[in-house]
Amino acid sequence: MTDTVLVLGATGKTGRRLVSRLTAQGVAVRAASRKPGEGRTLFDWDRPETHAPALAGVDAVYLVAPDLVEDPTAMTGPFLAAARLAGVKRVVLLSSMGVTFPNEGPGSGRDKLERQVMASRMDWTVLRPGGFSQNFSEGFLLPGILQAGAFATATGDGAVAFVDADDIAAVAAVALTQDGHAGATYEVTGPQALTFSQAAEIIGQAAGRTIAHRPISSEALTDLLVGFGLPRDYAALVVGNQDAIRDGLGARVSDVVARVTGRPATPFADYAARAAPAWARG
Ligand SMILES: NC(=O)c1ccc[n+]([C@@H]2O[C@H](COP(=O)([O-])OP(=O)(O)OC[C@H]3O[C@@H](n4cnc5c(N)ncnc54)[C@H](OP(=O)(O)O)[C@@H]3O)[C@@H](O)[C@H]2O)c1
Repeated sequence: MTDTVLVLGATGKTGRRLVSRLTAQGVAVRAASRKPGEGRTLFDWDRPETHAPALAGVDAVYLVAPDLVEDPTAMTGPFLAAARLAGVKRVVLLSSMGVTFPNEGPGSGRDKLERQVMASRMDWTVLRPGGFSQNFSEGFLLPGILQAGAFATATGDGAVAFVDADDIAAVAAVALTQDGHAGATYEVTGPQALTFSQAAEIIGQAAGRTIAHRPISSEALTDLLVGFGLPRDYAALVVGNQDAIRDGLGARVSDVVARVTGRPATPFADYAARAAPAWARG
């Protein structure tokens, strides 16, 4: 029985949806954010003094690593030790399908983080989602869509089985509150692999106007990301993932959502229909 769950990244794409789901199930939730208030719990990876108070009395943790940090293990290591000390029994890590790509490989920050969680001596479950559908409506692809009716990637004609963040949250909610998921690594995907151009077409239909995918080179993407202020090592991680997708490695489709939650994964067109207001101009 899981009484209290600490959700890190509780204002983010998956965390926000996980908080709603757990709350609806009657689970006590601590919604962690650097900006407290509105029922949130103060938590900042860069301020270790916020960790122990957030962990006190917690049974299970949804772990979202610090944003834009290639290797977060110097922060997550002490946090995991503190969690175990505080009596936390379960940890569900939001990782990425990217750790399985040969060009990321063993030794990446995310790979080290997975190993740290697996060695934490708490029951662990690792989620490895592919690209989120919500990147188009809540994430890094949205500004281009709104400003230019287009978004740029280095994925070429590579496909991704875009996964709805709500489906990731649904899998996480089960793993956090039910037995039978300790020691599992779940590749969480949507039901159908689509190229970014196909995704653009579906988004355009939902938005009622033309939305284009502009393929760019890996070098151009690197310049763009570094220009936006991303640290160079994190930009290299993102570009490496897009290279792997262009090479056909991101197109895998799994049955994890259906297997774990008992309902099918959300088709991209259903997501797009729901998200359409995000693409309204102005
Ligand atoms: N987007 C994808 O397609 C994708 C695919 C696979 C895996 N992932 C993984 O999913 C994770 C989340 O990525 P996302 O882009 O979707 O971000 P997100 O969860 O939408 O947003 C980041 C969250 O992290 C919190 N945060 C940022 N810096 C923090 C800090 N220093 N201390 C505490 N909390 C902090 C933010 O909360 P506050 O601002 O409220 O503090 C926010 O809730 C990443 O680890 C990423 O590698 C993403």
